[in-house]
Amino acid sequence: MAKFVVTIDGPAGSGKSTIAKLLAKREGFIHINSGALYRAVVYILGDSLDKDSLNGVDLKIEYRDGNFRILHNGIDITESLKTEALGKKASNVAKLGFVRDFVNMKVRAIPKSGKFVIDGRDCGSVIFPDADLKIFLTASPEERAKRRAEEIKGDFEHVLEEIKNRDEQDMKREIAPLKKPEGAYEIDTTGLGIEEVFRIVVDLVRRVYGNRDS
Ligand code: DC
Repeated sequence: MAKFVVTIDGPAGSGKSTIAKLLAKREGFIHINSGALYRAVVYILGDSLDKDSLNGVDLKIEYRDGNFRILHNGIDITESLKTEALGKKASNVAKLGFVRDFVNMKVRAIPKSGKFVIDGRDCGSVIFPDADLKIFLTASPEERAKRRAEEIKGDFEHVLEEIKNRDEQDMKREIAPLKKPEGAYEIDTTGLGIEEVFRIVVDLVRRVYGNRDS
């Protein structure tokens, strides 16, 4: 089977991972969450890391029952990567070129043949600029904070502040800043439920998949 790559980029809380997971579950895609790799890097090395220590890290990506897992020295660390504190630190190290090279190399090595969906900040602009379909999800900071606060049962105002800081940091960095990739379909998800966003995405995916050359 030929390779079919869909990228989903967007700011924190825009629903990228949720939609990517649904594509995996319902449409048979293999999901790669690039943000989880930045989180794994800081989880293992902290945020004052250097290139040599990073290159010595044994980090592997595996699929179990269709789910993406990250293994460090053979131990599954995926569930430990989900905190907002780690997201913030991940955003700090994501400014460093050698960290981006490390993550990009790991992610690019995965898609061989089959259907893949990759979510993050620069998947359509830098990691897979030739993706078959690029999606850019947005939503107001308030809407994203509301979703995140419900998910992690956190305080709305605090989460909103963190989301705004992370947006600023991810959009203003010099290397591979968060932006709408060229040729991407932008979907503003403010006020939309998950199923409504999924319907828009899956219609796009099926249309492009149906029209592919091979
Ligand atoms: O999507 P996330 O919250 O798990 O991502 C954590 C941080 O990692 C995010 O704030 C910025 C960085 N990141 C990145 O720079 N490029 C990506 N492709 C994915 C994530």
